[in-house]
Amino acid sequence: MYLGIDVGTSEVKALLLNDQHQAIATAGSTLEVSRPHPGHSEQDPATWWTATCNALKALQSKHPTEYAAIKAIGLSGQMHGAVLLDKANRVLRPAILWNDTRCARECKEMMAELPAASELAGSLIMPGFTAPKLRWVAKHEPAVFAQVAKVLLPKDYVRLMLTGEHITDLSDASGTAWLDVAKRAWSPELLALTGMTEAQMPRVVEGSAPGGQLSADAASTLGLQPGIVVAGGAGDNASSAVGMGAVKAGEGFLSLGTSGVLFVVTPSFAPNAASATHAFCHAVPGTWHQMSVMLSAASCLQWAKVALGAASEAELESKASALDFSARAAAPLFLPYLSGERTPHNDAVLRGSFHGISHSADQAALAYSVIEGVSFGLTDGLNALKKAGSHVKRLSLVGGGARSAMWAQQLASSLNVEIVTHAESAAGGALGAARLGWLATDASVEDVCTQPAITQSYQPDPEEQAFLSPRYAKFQALYPALKALQ
Ligand code: XUL
Repeated sequence: MYLGIDVGTSEVKALLLNDQHQAIATAGSTLEVSRPHPGHSEQDPATWWTATCNALKALQSKHPTEYAAIKAIGLSGQMHGAVLLDKANRVLRPAILWNDTRCARECKEMMAELPAASELAGSLIMPGFTAPKLRWVAKHEPAVFAQVAKVLLPKDYVRLMLTGEHITDLSDASGTAWLDVAKRAWSPELLALTGMTEAQMPRVVEGSAPGGQLSADAASTLGLQPGIVVAGGAGDNASSAVGMGAVKAGEGFLSLGTSGVLFVVTPSFAPNAASATHAFCHAVPGTWHQMSVMLSAASCLQWAKVALGAASEAELESKASALDFSARAAAPLFLPYLSGERTPHNDAVLRGSFHGISHSADQAALAYSVIEGVSFGLTDGLNALKKAGSHVKRLSLVGGGARSAMWAQQLASSLNVEIVTHAESAAGGALGAARLGWLATDASVEDVCTQPAITQSYQPDPEEQAFLSPRYAKFQALYPALKALQ
């Protein structure tokens, strides 16, 4: 048995995988995000550990025999978050998360001071990334900055609790903007931009390599065997790719989670910062990937649920699905920039809007608008990836949004690619994490990173494309118009 733990933004999910590729069980424990100021997004790392313990307890009580047979652990997690520790491994302040946009100014300063920064880091330095957050802390919280002995990423804080060690993997380290992504090693030049040194960084390992062992303390808390290997693991996106078997050039997936991500494996390191895409290390040795990232994807529907007083996202989705093309044509356009945007706009202060509201704009119409706006944002993302040189014919759909047939069909039409779903689509990073644990026991990538069976395939639909295309053209025209008003 292999255990995958995904430290997400809205929950910690744990998954038990056997060596027949069957996910025996999953268990989750929810997390809250605190937004103390506009544009700020934080979590207390202690809640990740509590949620991990709760999720594992739930797995153990449902499947005691399989749980007792766990022989490796893999970790996946929300990327980029800054966990600041002092010399005694005490957390110095709440973790600043990937969708926190407070450090836009610091990003500009860093790129002006080192024009080669984006080439080294594989991406423009963007406010979500870890390095500019530390520069913000140095400026605004100098007493905290002075005590920073180590900076960890979210899943690596959970690893610290599991193993007592400061270790990260290369895919997650890529999202810090401190890594020389081509060399797969920390970059002294990028570290210097934030007044940091390699001593403050965790040790980096490949995602599929061992990255610590379960300590006796953690083993007794969790009811597991001490000494079990903990794999390097991966950022949640690289981990989802491993779960979907996307490890060879041209293979990829689309994630409709809190964020919206298009991920394509590339044959080599292929940065194209101007397109606001990311070129990062993948979680298996000698591979890289390109990715476009929307900050608010399925989370837009979550917002709409609350704002429109709906009982659930599923209720909104089913009302939107029931609309025919003429009702959809009357729905406003939605710009999904609830917390700014990364790809393609790299704009931290941008916010969302509805355009073209009429008297007929009821709950169903607005729900449709929100779903469509996210699909259009992802279409922008795919266009950015094309500019960066990535071309895909088929994408596996993963994340909470993968449950919606209407959304999957709309994405196939809007992106003009085949979209496929798998029984494992909802597992997200947890399945890939379990697979990385398996790889750390010396198994081969060919045996472990297989593609799960396809449960449904969605082809681009010419009628839907003819409907969407003029709406997408208007959607694209709205960003420059809004920008002028900022
Ligand atoms: C990727 C990114 C998000 C988070 C979400 O760059 O910021 O996808 O990893 O968990």
